[in-house]
Amino acid sequence: MVSDIIEKALNEQIRIEAESSQVYLSMASWAELQGFEGVASFMYAHSDEERMHMLKLVKFVNERGGHAQVSALEKPPVEFGSFKEMFQTLFDHEVMVSQKINELVGITLEQRDYATHNFLQWYVAEQIEEEALARNILDKINLIGDDKGGLYLFDNDVKLLVGNPPAE
Ligand code: FEO
Repeated sequence: MVSDIIEKALNEQIRIEAESSQVYLSMASWAELQGFEGVASFMYAHSDEERMHMLKLVKFVNERGGHAQVSALEKPPVEFGSFKEMFQTLFDHEVMVSQKINELVGITLEQRDYATHNFLQWYVAEQIEEEALARNILDKINLIGDDKGGLYLFDNDVKLLVGNPPAE
C-alpha cells in the first residue's frame, strides 16, 4: 500500500512523464515540417517511450492501492528555433527528469517505502541511458553547426537510432 505522500509524489511524476511525451511530440511535428524525417521519427518514438514511462507509473500506483491521476498538462513550445536548440532543450529536459526521479527516490527512503524504492530503480537506470543518448546527439549537432550537408547526414544517422533504440 502506498502512503498519501508517496502517492502524491508518484502522481507528480506521472504528470512529468506525460508532459515529456507532449514536448517530444511537439518536437517531432516541428522536425517533420522542416523536412527532417529521421529526427521526426526519433522524436515520435521518444514521445511514445515517455508515454510508456507514464503508464508504468499509472499501473504501479493503482496496483499498490493508490489512485493514479491524469492531470492537466502544460502546453509545450511549438517552435524550437534550430536543431541545436531543440536538442539542447531535450538534454536539459532529461536532466530535469533525472533530478525529479532522484528526489522521488529520496522520498521513498525517508518514508521507508522499499517496494516503491525498488520499482524506481528502473527509472534511475533509464535516466542514465536517456541522458547519455541526449548528450551524444548534442555533441554531434554541436560539431555539425549549421552545415546543411552535415545536417542531412545527421538526419540519416538519427533514423538508425529509431531502428536500434538503446536497451531498456
Ligand atoms: Fe521518462 Fe525521458 O524521461
